[in-house]
Amino acid sequence: MRTTYWLVLLALAWLVTAMIALQIGRRSAAASARRVTLVGTVKEIMQGIVDPSADVVWESVATNITAAGIEEKAPKTDDEWAVVQHSALMLAEAANLLKMEGRAIARPDEANTKSGPDAPELTPAEIQEKVARDWSLWLKYADGLQDVAINALRVTNARDVNGVLEVGDALDKACENCHLQYWYPDDKKPGRARTPGPRPSSTKQP
Ligand code: HEC
Repeated sequence: MRTTYWLVLLALAWLVTAMIALQIGRRSAAASARRVTLVGTVKEIMQGIVDPSADVVWESVATNITAAGIEEKAPKTDDEWAVVQHSALMLAEAANLLKMEGRAIARPDEANTKSGPDAPELTPAEIQEKVARDWSLWLKYADGLQDVAINALRVTNARDVNGVLEVGDALDKACENCHLQYWYPDDKKPGRARTPGPRPSSTKQP
């Protein structure tokens, strides 16, 4: 009888402790959630941060063929390397922005971004739904970008010109993988023409 009494008391004490812990946990999660403010949409982050930074990486090393001959372009001075390093850093950190839950794909007034009536692109609402349906899959593609961007940072820190060239190809794939999954998934089907998406504009070495 006495043992049962103590057991019940112990169970109650445990329950109260667990509930308090849960409350504290909830409160601190809410507090830390309030500390971040989602300002841009995925589209704006693409236009304003991801695309321009990737362009810097892609264009930093190139072979330009002109009337004057073949010019091998690569960063040379500390300042020139710093620009590429900063862009690699922007890409790596931009992946974190993409990994923040609750961010809109586009503004409400950008609901129809299709390039034509039969265009293969999904609308922002359709993309949003796809992302919400499997958040961990979205994280996988953002991680894909982040891994390559961290590599880009590593090779630029090492001033490895060939490394930048190789990482450029990997970067292109990381962008394309996510776009094929969420933006124009129909392009994955064989026989479909590839949508002219964001492409590296530099001429690459063979
Ligand atoms: C985790 C997924 C993901 C990754 C990785 C990603 N993108 Fe995107 N991107 C999107 C989505 C989703 C859209 C479509 C948003 C929209 O425009 O409706 C988009 C759209 C774009 C756009 C079009 C923006 C516009 O004007 O509408 C550009 C440009 C772009 N991405 C560039 C890139 C580049 C360059 C990379 C790689 C360095 C990249 N993206 C990597 C998800 C991704």
